[in-house]
Amino acid sequence: IPPSSAAPADGEPSANQSGPSLSLTILYGTQTGNAEQMASDIAGIAKTRGFAPRVAPLDSMAMADLARLKRLLIVTSTYGQGEMPDTARGFWEALASDEAPDLAGLSYSVMAMGDSGYETFCQAGQDVDRRLAALGARPVEARVDCDTNYAATAFAWVDRALGEIRKVEGTEDEVATSAPDTAARSRWNRRNPLMATLATNRRLSGSGSSKDTRHIEIALTDSGFTYEAGDCIGVIPTNDPALVDAVMSHFGLCAHVPVAGHDKPLGTLLSEQFEIAVPSRELVAEVGRRSGNAELNHILEHGDRQALDSWLYGRDCLDLLQMLPNGELTAGEFIGLLKPLQHRAYSISSSPKEYPDSLHLTVATIRYPSHGRARKGVASTYLADRVGEGHPAPIFLSPNRAFRVPEDNAAPMIMIGPGTGVAPFRAFLQERRATGASGRNWLFFGERSRAHDFLYGEEFQRMQDDGLLTRMDLAFSRDQAEKIYVQHRMRENGRDLFAWLEEGGYLYVCGDATRMAADVEEALSEILQREGAMSAEAADLYLERLRREKRYLRDVY
Ligand code: 2AM
Repeated sequence: IPPSSAAPADGEPSANQSGPSLSLTILYGTQTGNAEQMASDIAGIAKTRGFAPRVAPLDSMAMADLARLKRLLIVTSTYGQGEMPDTARGFWEALASDEAPDLAGLSYSVMAMGDSGYETFCQAGQDVDRRLAALGARPVEARVDCDTNYAATAFAWVDRALGEIRKVEGTEDEVATSAPDTAARSRWNRRNPLMATLATNRRLSGSGSSKDTRHIEIALTDSGFTYEAGDCIGVIPTNDPALVDAVMSHFGLCAHVPVAGHDKPLGTLLSEQFEIAVPSRELVAEVGRRSGNAELNHILEHGDRQALDSWLYGRDCLDLLQMLPNGELTAGEFIGLLKPLQHRAYSISSSPKEYPDSLHLTVATIRYPSHGRARKGVASTYLADRVGEGHPAPIFLSPNRAFRVPEDNAAPMIMIGPGTGVAPFRAFLQERRATGASGRNWLFFGERSRAHDFLYGEEFQRMQDDGLLTRMDLAFSRDQAEKIYVQHRMRENGRDLFAWLEEGGYLYVCGDATRMAADVEEALSEILQREGAMSAEAADLYLERLRREKRYLRDVY
């Protein structure tokens, strides 16, 4: 969490100095609201330094207007496999095209946000930065690539970038953005989370299931916390107390021991401030170096990201510590190698139109044995096991403005959501029921077994009986010898699926990003080729057009 001390450095010119304010445009590309929050923080700092900043999504900036700008700061995250976030896709398409304008009059700098755990770390920001420079714009300050623990790097860049950009002379004509960002903000945010109590926490998976997926209801009564169908929340978890204890006993220390350089004792640092279930790159590298472990060092030197990921699967920070001789690392050194504890995002599975006083989540709790110990997903088991009476969960809204039911109530919706990917579609269906939307609705759902894992089965069946759900196709992968997945059901119904798209349908995909989303896209392409008599290239263009028209929307993780 960035510090609240985002104040200007002493001695900087401030807003109350005389003279006109300098125009400054701050554009953001955001998927979960982080970059948007950062953009508005930068605007706050800029104001205190005599700028007249305005903040808008990248997509609201037309190329002609961009070419008239003088001073621009861009903050953007990266989505999925190195893609632009949804609020930046249109902008990027125009910027990358052959018709993009000459930007010789523009001075700018870019803050790229990402997670170095991904191979495509900060890709979107890097692409934008390169393209702006190629079009003649002048970078006044080098791009900064911010990892998950970005506060210090980010605010140091803000300080430098504002200092440099204020040297840029000239004023610009009034430039309009097509969609001024006037959305009211709730007083609850990442810095000021709502301490939420759970009204419900029950198993959706049957007792015979190999999974433990929960239906969770969070009470919002009188909190002023608002959301929309399609939004996510961030949950700020604490670590598993058993793992915290095991790490402390590894060092032979107890919870109240102070740690140099920190104002909290060891127990609090381990449970509330740092990732101990998910090893940082720094810790892995240090353990590789100090242990001399051949396998790990081979992967670090020659392996790719995937090899490292599979080595790390089922290993936490304690496993790494135990690879070293006792006493090799002090607790303080160990803490210094950890990354800050991150929030986890969950799609909301209810519509506020049906549940104004609560929000629902659909959470698969992650538990599996590995290397002789029970492993647990940090936030999923936090919610399932440790939030309760007297132990509220800090949550904040992570808006997903690009992932909404169609504005046109009559437009057909096709929703593909295997596993907990079904969450936002339960919300979408409630939303359409509440508004009386006339459009047809088609759900593809998949899980392991019909008897144990048909999440919200009765609800969906009732929706189908009531006519809200026009079609429902189910893929239970383990109810027969061969695997059946949602994409098989899509292919079987390819003709109708294509017809729905041709009739103006919206296509939504939610769930696993690593395999499912790609397999579903391949199935779509095949359906377009077969039913629309298209070449593979034509099918790509068709999907691209759907994306541009915001009719092919994904919420994948
Ligand atoms: P499996 O676990 O039997 O392989 C929700 O997790 C459902 O998604 C499960 O039925 C799971 O099947 C299935 N699934 C696994 N991989 C998938 C993929 N690549 N595409 C679609 N569904 C997949």
